[in-house]
Amino acid sequence: MGVDVLLGLQWGDEGKGKVVDVLSPNYSVIARFQGGPNAGHSLEFNGIKHVLHTIPSGIFRDNCCNIIGNGVVIDPIVLKKEIVKLQDMGVKVESKLFISKKAHLILPTHRFLDAASEASKGTEKIGSTLKGIGPTYMDKTGRNGLRVGDIFHHDFRDRYNFLVKKHDDLLGFYDYKYDLTEVEKEWFDGIEFIKQFQCIDGEHLINQYIREGKSILAEGAQGSLLDIDFGSYPFVTSSNTITAGACTGLGIPPNKIGDVIGIFKAYATRVGSGPFPTELNDETGEKLRKIGHEFGATTGRPRRCGWIDLPALRYAIMINGVTKLVMMKADVLSGFDTIKACTHYKYRGEIIDYMPFDIIHDPVIPVYHEIAGWDKDLTKLTNANELPKELQNYINFLEMELNIPIIIVSVGPDREQTLMR
Ligand code: GDP
Ligand code: IMO
Ligand code: MG
Repeated sequence: MGVDVLLGLQWGDEGKGKVVDVLSPNYSVIARFQGGPNAGHSLEFNGIKHVLHTIPSGIFRDNCCNIIGNGVVIDPIVLKKEIVKLQDMGVKVESKLFISKKAHLILPTHRFLDAASEASKGTEKIGSTLKGIGPTYMDKTGRNGLRVGDIFHHDFRDRYNFLVKKHDDLLGFYDYKYDLTEVEKEWFDGIEFIKQFQCIDGEHLINQYIREGKSILAEGAQGSLLDIDFGSYPFVTSSNTITAGACTGLGIPPNKIGDVIGIFKAYATRVGSGPFPTELNDETGEKLRKIGHEFGATTGRPRRCGWIDLPALRYAIMINGVTKLVMMKADVLSGFDTIKACTHYKYRGEIIDYMPFDIIHDPVIPVYHEIAGWDKDLTKLTNANELPKELQNYINFLEMELNIPIIIVSVGPDREQTLMR
């Protein structure tokens, strides 16, 4: 049995947390493979909304083992808070959570460096979540980083101090003033806290599970259009958010990948800076934000909203090898007279159906196909056959354009508001 991968096909916040939670009864193992506390994955059941940042979204299921893979970057302060909150709710995190020893650690000074770098960019800033993601991955690839396995070594403090000294020099270059005293104490408390958990060789564990025929789902963070290689660089995150990231971020052999489940919203959103061809800076965009409660789960920032972008989705489907699609937030589109879908771009006087290299200096203009809207409240539906005819037309149109079946339509944030097709 292959390892299935579930990931976002747009700019993040597609609803990965909800769908992983919905699908988790079908899996024994849920594993995060990249990103860190920049992620905010929401899931809702029994009237309560939970937001996870570092912990995989299978943590609420009793028989699910949850792995934080080597490709993830961990802030011990955030992870401790996240775990304590779950424990207070009675979730048995100790027995269900495994942390790869090869996962890199986010230091407080990585967060300062993130802030200093963004401040230095002025209007060109990335719009980072300021969780220290970029600087931590820079230290990983620069071969300076500290990993979870290092916390058990007697010289860990020295290695920490050595890295902080380097960061201090860099922060001096930025002329960034900071005070480490309190936050450093909190960080080392977090480190001690993590030691109680199962810190393991994640790649061995996951391959053992593969040999045993366990069902495994890899949970992506961010979205394909924020990928460090294939996103709208430099307005991206610092990891590979695509299917290939599941191989490097967990130690899964590429030939062991099974289904790739790609998630997209019925429209599009983006938080932070960077190109967004179908963005609506008008009342329609405002209406989407309001009805869709489009505010970041991690930073609370308003998300930019627009119509669905099919050239961008086709690109993400190609790079990821998507085999199944999941459409989220269909309920948010109820009450629009017309729904628009961007099928092509106008670019340098030509009509094209792909995303060109540089849309930052040379923007594309979306070409739209219009579809009749619907008015029905979808949030209480229990069967996909009850979906209004216009929405079924929209779904059929998307399936034809994207050439992949849409297997789930989500009509609300709760577990129950999920229609299987
Ligand atoms: P993730 O980062 O991909 O896990 O997505 P987020 O949790 O950041 O953002 C998705 C938001 O949409 C959350 O607030 C979810 O509770 C909510 N949500 C998920 N699915 C649906 C849906 O089908 N309809 C509506 N209205 N909200 C949804
Ligand atoms: P989930 O997993 C949406 C965006 C930030 C910024 C850019 C770089 O919840 O979908 P970073 O902090 O990584 O250096 O920020 O990426 N970003 C996200 N946008 N959802 C996320 O995660 C995101 N994680 C990062 O807004 O534009
Ligand atoms: Mg999110």
